[in-house]
Amino acid sequence: MHKQVLETAHRIATKYLDEVAARHVGGSTTRNALCDALGGPMPQGSSDPIAVLNDLAARADAGIVANAGPRYFGFVTGGAVPVTVAADWIASAWDQNSALYLQSPAAAVIEDVVSGWILELLDLPRTASVGFVTGCHMANFTCLAAARHEVLRRVGWNVETRGLQKAPRVRVIAGGEIHVSAVGALRYLGFGTEEIELIPVDGQGRMRADALEAALAKSAGPTIVCAQAGNVSTGACDPLDAIVRSAHARGAWVHVDGAFGLWAATVPELRSQVKGIETADSWATDAHKWLNVPYDSGLAIVADAAPHRAAMSMKASYLPRGTDEERIGMDWVPESSRRSRVLPLYALFRSLGRDGIADIVRRNCALARRIADRLSKEPGITILNDVVLNQVLVQFTDDETTRRVIAAVQAEGTCWAGGAFWQNKQVMRVSVSNWSTTEGDIDRSADAMIRCFRVF
Ligand SMILES: Cc1ncc(COP(=O)(O)O)c(C=O)c1O
Repeated sequence: MHKQVLETAHRIATKYLDEVAARHVGGSTTRNALCDALGGPMPQGSSDPIAVLNDLAARADAGIVANAGPRYFGFVTGGAVPVTVAADWIASAWDQNSALYLQSPAAAVIEDVVSGWILELLDLPRTASVGFVTGCHMANFTCLAAARHEVLRRVGWNVETRGLQKAPRVRVIAGGEIHVSAVGALRYLGFGTEEIELIPVDGQGRMRADALEAALAKSAGPTIVCAQAGNVSTGACDPLDAIVRSAHARGAWVHVDGAFGLWAATVPELRSQVKGIETADSWATDAHKWLNVPYDSGLAIVADAAPHRAAMSMKASYLPRGTDEERIGMDWVPESSRRSRVLPLYALFRSLGRDGIADIVRRNCALARRIADRLSKEPGITILNDVVLNQVLVQFTDDETTRRVIAAVQAEGTCWAGGAFWQNKQVMRVSVSNWSTTEGDIDRSADAMIRCFRVF
């Protein structure tokens, strides 16, 4: 039976991907319609699984957003290179638990192999440890837990055993444009949002290194500095080399949230934007953004494996450990049982190699500049950021017109871009992060945006 069931899924998925580039890019229905189509009481008895799958595909269809396609520019959203989707299917079929070596020796070794490749690709310290988490939010959490452990250990406090309530005070310093997920991670770790010392930023959202230096000089003690590679709005990267130099001179830990910007390190002509990145203490990033593997996939990387393991690992007699070489996946992540989400990454790296990864990043950046150029030629449209990576902030005359254009573009369906505020101005955010986007997609999308704008 499994053969027919899986073949049904295969048919549904390949049909979807064959047609994804031609779909209305946003969802084209209402919540009520979806509830009517998908809801109903809990079934009492069984149904034919093939009918269940066909029915699911038909009933959910109008609520599926085409973010796997080439003209979805919302948030920072990668697609999924086909080999990574296929590897993800295999991961589900194998159904491996990546918690312990003996639960899946293959998954454990593949995590070790991919960890090594990632450190090579990003040129980070080869001794760093890597945890395979759900996304950059959890990567921030994992890395900052390691940071919290280490800065307190250095003053003789074991936060894992003694907790935070009576611990020496830890200063947490971040750029004023810190991403909300890093703030969330700090909250989970016992640091209140009002305790974060925010450092002024420049016009592109980069932490000002001189202001950080002044803040660090104010007091000593355990300190964590949260820097950023790739501002979620502008794509700009903090001046990491200066930040790390100042912070390390005072014994502070530097964490880098590089959800997408970290991958600039893979392209020789972009690497200067993350200069000094290899000198930081921890790095959080996503694979489901610029690496274009399916949701969900993130990476927590820590230069010194000891605090990483100390912050995450747990022991119980029924969870056996083997030899030191046998990787315990759960030592590096905030979860125990976990799918083998490393498999799509392994397939990606084997399939594309270094050159293929750099090509996606390079191409997306060129396409971001292309859409910025096309849009800025239209009177009334202004690009508000320096397009240094894949992010473009667009203003259409004023706030109200920008809001209307965003709504019109989303309704029209050629492409999808969301809104946000940047420096108190309403903007349309365009993030070019999909492996399959072409110049033709960019031109079609720019034309659609300009058409929508001209109506107002
Ligand atoms: C800089 C930055 N950090 C963290 C995140 C959170 O990533 P995720 O939602 O994949 O966990 C994002 C998402 O856009 C981001 O841009």
